Amino acid sequence: MGVIRLQKYMAECGVASRRKCEELIADGLVKVNGEIVTEPGAKVDPLADKIEFRNMQVELKPEKKVYVMLNKPVGYVTTVKDEKGRSTVMELLKDIKERIVPVGRLDMYTSGLLLFSNDGAFINKITHPSHETTKTYIVKIKGVPTNEKLDKLRSGVVIDDFKTSPANVELLLEDRTNNVSRLKIEIHEGKNRQVRKMIEAIGHTTISLRREAIGNLTLDGLEKGKWRYLTDFEINELLNK
Ligand code: URA
Repeated sequence: MGVIRLQKYMAECGVASRRKCEELIADGLVKVNGEIVTEPGAKVDPLADKIEFRNMQVELKPEKKVYVMLNKPVGYVTTVKDEKGRSTVMELLKDIKERIVPVGRLDMYTSGLLLFSNDGAFINKITHPSHETTKTYIVKIKGVPTNEKLDKLRSGVVIDDFKTSPANVELLLEDRTNNVSRLKIEIHEGKNRQVRKMIEAIGHTTISLRREAIGNLTLDGLEKGKWRYLTDFEINELLNK
């Protein structure tokens, strides 16, 4: 936070509005390091200075930890702020006042389950491959892959310089009339555009991609573009896996 005006800091701590805090300061009700301060422009360093109002210490309360899931529609970028001015997933979460960030990312043209939080340990747990949280994707592709190609996906394919770890792959639909098929793919990693690249590596093209689940957590009835808080049970299940 650094050095900040006294009334601004008091307002951020929830004492009163900034204007009202100016009055409280002028009225001699605020002390900094034991001394009454009435000067209007006084600045403080909240990490170093002791600030008191009516002899009670004024402190920032730690931000409440929040855990949110969104059913991301296609066309939104997973970032807090987009330099190119495109729509971001944060625009769909306007009602949330805590400063949450996306947990991992989904491509602009990928839809489905995206988590958000302000809890660093939780973010690390979900995104770090060593924790092996399973991510389940439904992918519609051009053509119908052979069993051999499906086995390749299962055992690992090389994308960029990286060999993917063993994955569960299920052929959900093969539509030879329209020459498309649908696969369910479960992976533990989250390399950039991993599923699309895995499909490319077996000589097919992705038509659409949706993330259905992270661990046991599924979209389960959450409408596209809508969000909800995770329950305590869901948070613990993801953290204790
Ligand atoms: N794999 C992809 O290709 N894209 C995503 O958004 C997520 C996984």
